[in-house]
Amino acid sequence: MARKKLLRFEENDGFSSVLQPSPYKLLEGPHPYRGKWSETHFGNLNPLVLELGCGRGEYAVGLALASKDKNFIGVDIKGSRLYHGAKFVEENSLPNICFVRTRIDYIAQIFDNEINEIWLTFPDPRPERKRKRLTSPIFMERYLKILKGHGLLHLKTDSKPLCDYTLEVAQEFGLEVLHHTDDLYSLENRDEICPPIQTAYEKRYLAEGRKINFLTLKVKNNF
Ligand SMILES: C[S@@+](CC[C@H](N)C(=O)[O-])C[C@H]1O[C@@H](n2cnc3c(N)ncnc32)[C@H](O)[C@@H]1O
Repeated sequence: MARKKLLRFEENDGFSSVLQPSPYKLLEGPHPYRGKWSETHFGNLNPLVLELGCGRGEYAVGLALASKDKNFIGVDIKGSRLYHGAKFVEENSLPNICFVRTRIDYIAQIFDNEINEIWLTFPDPRPERKRKRLTSPIFMERYLKILKGHGLLHLKTDSKPLCDYTLEVAQEFGLEVLHHTDDLYSLENRDEICPPIQTAYEKRYLAEGRKINFLTLKVKNNF
């Protein structure tokens, strides 16, 4: 493994904002904070928002800076990416955000019915492998286990096929479509429906002239 990556893994270990649950322990039983993350980790009862597949955490950090009255958790399997967001959080002592290094596949073992919003920003569209898409029915079932009634799922993507596929899955699960556009930047009220935070991925796609699809789905009641 590259030395730089190893050093980042070591630094992550020392960051109080990075939690790295063991997958083996999660197979044995739920995470100890499950069902009480806001209370246990953040010491308050504020709404809880996840960014799944957060990469370097740019979006999650942007949200946390903009909404001090909510708690944010960025989830990604890649420690060397999370490191960037975590370093910023540590250096700036942000109290309302942390990162969990884990596979999204385990989220129902880590969180209970306690999440107000989930963000999926620029997930890999996986054109050849539907089951692996982060909005496939397998993942959607997991999200609905952890989202509260009336909870929201936001998707921001440059892939229209992924957005259209997600709409089909949403219909299958009886989710309400609150917002849907295949060209976010054509909307005058875009900042009202989607916070104006751009990750490096989004900046690159915009520079290439790609359109940004945005979708907000709402859980009608408890799943
Ligand atoms: C294309 S990147 C987008 C990162 C970020 N959302 C952004 O816009 O900058 C997708 C991220 O999802 C993560 N990811 C994909 N599948 C995952 C899974 N099953 N569990 C955890 N992380 C996953 C990858 O490690 C990667 O960092």
